[in-house]
Amino acid sequence: MRDDSHPLDDPSADPFEVAATAAADIARLTGVPQHDIALTLGSGWSKAAELIGETTATLDATEVTGFSKPALAGHVGSLRSILTPKGKRVLVIGARTHYYEGHGTRRVVHSVRTAAATGVKTMVLTNGAGGIKPTWKPGQPVLISDHINLTADSPLEGATFVDLTDLYSTRLRDVARSIDPTLDEGVYCQFRGPHYETPAEVQMAKAIGGHIVGMSTALEAIAARQAGMEILGFSLITNLAAGIQTTPLSHQEVLEAGRDAEPVISDLLARVIGVL
Ligand code: HPA
Repeated sequence: MRDDSHPLDDPSADPFEVAATAAADIARLTGVPQHDIALTLGSGWSKAAELIGETTATLDATEVTGFSKPALAGHVGSLRSILTPKGKRVLVIGARTHYYEGHGTRRVVHSVRTAAATGVKTMVLTNGAGGIKPTWKPGQPVLISDHINLTADSPLEGATFVDLTDLYSTRLRDVARSIDPTLDEGVYCQFRGPHYETPAEVQMAKAIGGHIVGMSTALEAIAARQAGMEILGFSLITNLAAGIQTTPLSHQEVLEAGRDAEPVISDLLARVIGVL
C-alpha cells in the first residue's frame, strides 16, 4: 500500500475503527477469534517468540489493515499467533512502526490498539536500547519501571486525560522477577531518533531520572494504558548510551548485541509469558 493511501493518514478516519478492522483481519487470517497477550518484539528480541509455544499462524503484516512494512533490517514484518502450553493465545507483533519514520503517532500505536481490539489484556513491549547505569552490560535485559516521553507528542487525541500511574505494572514486574530475581529495572526515555543521542542528551536523560535511552515504547505504552491493558516492558541493553561508552554507537553493534543475547532473553521472555 502506498503511504499516501494509508487508512490512518485520512484525518477523518477513526483510529479505533481501523484497529477493529485490523483485529477482524487477524481473527479471519489466523482462525483465532481472540488473543490474551500481545508481545511486541524490538531489536534483539525477534527469536524470543520461538520458545513461547506453538506458532499456529504467521501473517505478513501487510495483509492486516493499517500495518506498514518495517523501515529497517532487524525488525520482522510479521504477525504471529502462538498457543502457549497453558492454552493462552499470544499475538506476536514483529512489525513495529517507529515514531522517527515520521508517519505520526496513529501509525506508531496502531499495533497496540489492534492488540487491544483482539481482546488482549496484557501487553508486553520489548526494545533494544542504550543503558545509562554504568553497572549494566551490553546484552543484559532490564525491566522498564517507568518512562519519560521526550517526543513532545502523544497518541491521545483531543482532551483525553489518561492516568499513567503504575504504567509499567508493578505486579507484572514482580512476576518477571519471580522468574529472574537478578533483573534490574530503570526509567526509559523515548527520544525521537533516528539519530542516537549526543553525550549531553544522555547526561540530560540521567539528570531527569532516566536510565535507558531508546526510540520506541513510551508512546505505545500510553496507547496501551488508554486501551485498558496491563503493561510489561523489557529493554535489552544493546550498548551503553553515548558518552557512557567511549566508542561510537552503531546500528551493527546494536544488532550484534541482540544476536548474542538471544538465547538468554528468549528463554526469559518465554518463561515470563508462561506464567502470565
Ligand atoms: N539510543 C537510542 N536508541 C537505541 C540505543 C541508544 O543508545 N541503542 C539501541 N537503540
